[in-house]
Amino acid sequence: MAKTVELIIEGKSYTLPVIEGSENEMAIDISDLRDQTGYITMDIGYKNTGSTKSAITFLDGETGILRYRGYAIEELAEKSNFLEVSYLLIFGELPTQEQLAKFTHDITTHTLVHEDVKKILDGFPSSAHPMGVLSSLFCAQTAFYPESLNPNRPADGVYLSIVRSMAKMPTFAAWSYKNNVGHPVNYPDNKLDYCARFMKMMFALPAEDYETDPVIADALDKLLILHADHEQNCSTSTVRIVGSSKASIYSSISAGINALWGPLHGGANQEVIVMLEAIKNDGGNIDKWIAKAKDKNDPFRLMGFGHRVYKNFDPRAKIIKKAADDVLGKLGINDPVLEIAQKLEEIALKDPYFVERKLYPNVDFYSGIIYRALGIPVDMFTVMFAMGRLPGWIAQWRELRANNEPIGRPRQIYTGSKLKPYTAIASRKA
Ligand code: SDX
Repeated sequence: MAKTVELIIEGKSYTLPVIEGSENEMAIDISDLRDQTGYITMDIGYKNTGSTKSAITFLDGETGILRYRGYAIEELAEKSNFLEVSYLLIFGELPTQEQLAKFTHDITTHTLVHEDVKKILDGFPSSAHPMGVLSSLFCAQTAFYPESLNPNRPADGVYLSIVRSMAKMPTFAAWSYKNNVGHPVNYPDNKLDYCARFMKMMFALPAEDYETDPVIADALDKLLILHADHEQNCSTSTVRIVGSSKASIYSSISAGINALWGPLHGGANQEVIVMLEAIKNDGGNIDKWIAKAKDKNDPFRLMGFGHRVYKNFDPRAKIIKKAADDVLGKLGINDPVLEIAQKLEEIALKDPYFVERKLYPNVDFYSGIIYRALGIPVDMFTVMFAMGRLPGWIAQWRELRANNEPIGRPRQIYTGSKLKPYTAIASRKA
C-alpha cells in the first residue's frame, strides 16, 4: 500500500502521496498541491525541498555517509582512480577493463583544444580570476561544437560531448592558470595520465623537462575523486536547472562552474587558506578568530566549517585531513597553517557555539592545505574543485535528460505593491 499523508487546510482534508527512496528517505509529493489547494510551499534556500529523484549519489548528513552509485567514498578514494570513478558516476556502473581502457583512450585523444581558444584566452587580462576564464572557455565549446546545441542529439553525440568535457577541462584549467601568471600555455602531453598531464600543463616552463612527482599525482587523483559528486548542492542544482531548459551540456556546466565560484560553496577552499594565513600573520591568535566567527555583528565566518547537510562530520574532510598529513610528510613539507587548522578544529569542536549548530570541518577545510603542498596557487583551488566535480555535473545533467524532467520553474509569494494607477510626470508623446 503506497504511503500517504493528510494535510488539513481550512478544515478540508487533502491526501498527498509519499515518495520513499532506496535508503528509506521520505518525501511528500506536492506536485499537485497548488491545483488541489491553491497553496504553494515556501522553503527559501531549499533546505527541506527535494528537486528530483536521483540514483547517482547518496549522502546521510547525520551519519556522515557518502556513496557514489552505492560505493562508499572511503573505498573509492582508497582503491579506485578518478577516471574509473568518473565512468561509474556518469554511466552508472563500474567499467570493465575494456570499457575503462576505451574511456581513457577517448579522453586522452581529445585533450587538445581548437587553436582559436587562444584568441579567447588572450582577451582576458592576467588579473582575471581563473574561475571566470574557465567558465568562459568551457562555454565556448558551444561555438566549436555547435552540434552540441541540439537537445535531441543521438547517444553517440552526447558521449562525444562527455569525452570532450572530461578531456578539455584540465587543458582549460591549466591555460587559465598560465594566463594568470603570464606564461605561454603548454599543450597536453598524451603520454601521461590524467593528473600528471594536467600538472605538466600547469607548471612546465618552455624548454624544461618537467616530471610530476608520483606522490603529487596520486594525491591529486584522490582529491578529484573526493570532489566528484555531492547530490543536489548549489552548483549541481544550477547545472540541472540550466539543463532543464534543454541548454547544452557545455553551457549547463559553465553555469555550474560559476555557482561553485561563490565563497559559501566551492570558493570556500580558497577562503580557508586566506583565513589560516590571516590567523598565522595575527600571531596564531585562534581564540580571537573563533570569537569573530561567533560574533553576529562580524561578517567573518569560519571558512571550511559547517555544511547544509552534514550535521555530524563530512566524511571527505576526514579522508583529506589524513591525506594532508601523508602528503606533507612524503613531500617533507612543514606547513605552519596545517598546525593552525588542526588547533582551530580542536578548539571549535569543543565550543558550544559550533557544537550546538553542528558545525564541523567540511571538504574545503583541509583541501587547500594539500593543494598548496602540491604547488597549486590559491586562485586555482576552486578550479581544482571544478575539475573534480565535472563527472558529477555530467552525470546529473545526463540523468535529468534521460528522465525527461520538465523545465525548472519555482513559484513565489509576491510581497510588492498592489495595483496602482499610472500617472505620467510629463506627456510621453512629444
Ligand atoms: C561546499 O552542499 C554541498 O554539498 C556543498 C559541498 C559540495 O561538495 O558541493 O559540500 C561543498 O560548498 C562546502 C561548504 C563550503 N562553505 C564554507 O565552508 C563557508 C562557511 N560555511 C557556511 O557559510 C555555512 O556553514 C554553509 C553555507 C556551508 C551552510 O550554511 P547553511 O546550511 O545555510 O547554514 P546557516 O548559514 O543558516 O547557518 C546556521 C547557523 C547560523 O547561526 P544562527 O543564525 O543559527 O545563530 O550556523 C552559523 C550561522 O551563522 N554558521 C556559522 C558557520 N556556518 C554556519 N558560524 C560561523 N562560521 C561558520 N562557518
